[in-house]
Amino acid sequence: MNWTVSERSFEPGRITTNGNKYMTGNGYMGFRGVLEEFGKEQLTAVTLAGVYDRAGDKWREPVNAPNGMFTVVSCDGKVLSVLETEPLAHLQSLELRAAVHRRETVFSIRDGGQVTLTAERFVSMDQLHVLAGKWTIHSTVDCRIEIETGIDGEVWDINGPHLFEQRNQLKEGVLLATAVTGELQLPVAVAEQADFAFAEQRIHGEGALRTVSFDAKAGETYEWYKYVAVFTGLDMEGEPAVQAVRTVRAAAEAGYAELLAAHCRKWEERWLSSDVVIEGDDDAQFALRYSIYQLLIIAPTLSEKVSIPARGLSGQVYKGAVFWDTEMFMLPFFLHSDPGIARNLMMYRIHTLDGARRKAAEYGYLGAFYAWESQDSGDDACTLFNVNDVFTGRPMRTYFRDKQVHISADVVHGIWQYIQFTGDDSMLADGGAEVIWECARFLYSYAYYNPVKKRYEILDVTGPDEYHERINNNAFTNALVQETLEIALRTAGLLQDKYPAVYAELAGQFAHGPFLAEFTDMLEHFYVPQPDPETLVIEQFDRYLKLEEVALAELKSRVINKHEYWGGGNGLATTTRILKQADVVLMLNLFKGKFSKEVKQANWEFYEPRTEHGSSLSPCIYALVAADIGLPDWGYPYFMRTATVDLTGESKQYVGDLYIGGTHPAANGGAWMAAVLGFAGLQFDGITAVMNPALPKAWKAVELPVVLRGDSFRLQISREEITVTAAPDNSEAVAFAGFGGEPELCGPGIQLRLRAQGKAQEAELQISSEMQGRFTQKS
Ligand code: BGC
Repeated sequence: MNWTVSERSFEPGRITTNGNKYMTGNGYMGFRGVLEEFGKEQLTAVTLAGVYDRAGDKWREPVNAPNGMFTVVSCDGKVLSVLETEPLAHLQSLELRAAVHRRETVFSIRDGGQVTLTAERFVSMDQLHVLAGKWTIHSTVDCRIEIETGIDGEVWDINGPHLFEQRNQLKEGVLLATAVTGELQLPVAVAEQADFAFAEQRIHGEGALRTVSFDAKAGETYEWYKYVAVFTGLDMEGEPAVQAVRTVRAAAEAGYAELLAAHCRKWEERWLSSDVVIEGDDDAQFALRYSIYQLLIIAPTLSEKVSIPARGLSGQVYKGAVFWDTEMFMLPFFLHSDPGIARNLMMYRIHTLDGARRKAAEYGYLGAFYAWESQDSGDDACTLFNVNDVFTGRPMRTYFRDKQVHISADVVHGIWQYIQFTGDDSMLADGGAEVIWECARFLYSYAYYNPVKKRYEILDVTGPDEYHERINNNAFTNALVQETLEIALRTAGLLQDKYPAVYAELAGQFAHGPFLAEFTDMLEHFYVPQPDPETLVIEQFDRYLKLEEVALAELKSRVINKHEYWGGGNGLATTTRILKQADVVLMLNLFKGKFSKEVKQANWEFYEPRTEHGSSLSPCIYALVAADIGLPDWGYPYFMRTATVDLTGESKQYVGDLYIGGTHPAANGGAWMAAVLGFAGLQFDGITAVMNPALPKAWKAVELPVVLRGDSFRLQISREEITVTAAPDNSEAVAFAGFGGEPELCGPGIQLRLRAQGKAQEAELQISSEMQGRFTQKS
């Protein structure tokens, strides 16, 4: 089975998309898929998770560290760079299993000779501050080779500069580049060490670069290594520079092979707990695996103070900000495969509660209004004028920041998902309850009590479909607000039972209300738009059906400038029923138990033709609901579109004149959701794992690992049969139900078979040694 993404030519026009497609990373840093000779013009970036800086009055954005992998090779004075010379042959590849990036480029030199350069590198999953690389040079004729390698301090910034007091030093063979960020004065240090067995090194460029010159013999291969360590003031109390030098020395001491082996072992563990095998469809398999890869390279393993930005660690696009994308599109993958990371993601929201409180207060509301675009402090990085009008060049007022109040409900949804799914309710005592109640208080203060209709409504909001701003009673938003109120009340019961001291303290804090009595009243009189009795369609918001009915193709033909924004005051879609992304249908997916198949199908059929899928968050939702109503082949193209978004690079690159390219973690998570929660039909409510598969035509079976309440299982799901295999060292039995049958308990070391025909059949089998090997060892 193919685990490698590759291409066999160099296309200058693909430099930017390949930077995303060939990304490597480890959650601490992301390294764009650039070639070693690239600089900032080619968008080279070592993006640091959770480190932000503001330059002047420009947008705050993540900080890119100097590039310690920078290397340029010359032969007889001629630079061997794809940017300067068209190569005779070129291969760029990314091996997903071990997360190793490779290139092999052949250049022609004088007298018909050829030089082949190879470079291999990885961002260590074992030592999160370390990058390592291995190079080879081979020439068919004798020639003079010069290698210039070191740390490139000229970093790519969208709204920089962010690094000040940049300094290069040489510390006994180690190159050290240090700087401090402008706003927070955080020190950043990059140390580099190179290992050349065959020639002397000369340091120059004021300590930033080293040069190695030698006479290469025809037919010989010359190999060398590089080690890089990156630290910032966020990682420690002391001096990051000292730690960077120490770490890079230790890395060089250990050597490339040992570092690579440790890195590969970590990746093996990651895949063991997350790989989804699709039998019968190689294209889908590859795309899904690639999507999972993209999620694994950005998962915050080290810290609960960083979450995942909407463009992952692929640069500074979207300000490196965390959106609702994390809770709604990525969290499920981590919940099922690595609950520790899911916990980190939700703890990030708890740590940023004060920022959310400040935002609520700024707008005159109570409680916590989470940032639409959240960074380190939780203050909103989203601007009021997010897009420039392409016709006038003037900033357009957008209301993402002020009116997407569903974000606070999304955060509550995420925390509750975590607690229900894992059974780890300690998060409530660790700040989760406070977040839930503050969000409920915010939404209570935002709600409007309609005295005529005697009900609470949510007015003046923007739902997921951003093309229709400031609308009333968005079905999605109202359904989530209702859920927040329910969760707020359930939290009270849970806390009183299990954490009475925490309950007492928080109840005291909110004694002046609004609190439980107000939440109860609001819930009892709350309006959530319902399906029309005749058409079964749920109106997306009040008066949506009064908008112009126009076909998507017709609307597209009205476009004057391909980058024009379809929403906002004068947007093409604003006055029509065309929506940017799944909205009502997303609601139907989140609350699938509450709606009939007929309602889901009616809304799918109504809204899909009216959906532009202008956000990469959209198609996966149509795949999920199609699978849910037993029509997986309707959903399949939407799944494929989602799963291939970062492979093809076919996504919106501009809104107005704003560059929004990069990787798409929400789509990556959406692809996983469509395959596992959609087609394989898995649903776990914290007690019973229910599987109602609806596999697309070509799929014979899906096999995946899951962690349910801390115990590991492997699921093999086909149309006829589901096999559940419990790890031998599981702590308790979990209930599984398949094909609409009764739940069956599956205890440690047991294999359970559920059949589609007739009553589910239970069988206790000895687990084969091969299957035993497919569980991650518990530490
Ligand atoms: C979508 C939002 C999303 C954001 C970041 C926008 O285009 O409309 O729903 O949160 O991108 O991915």
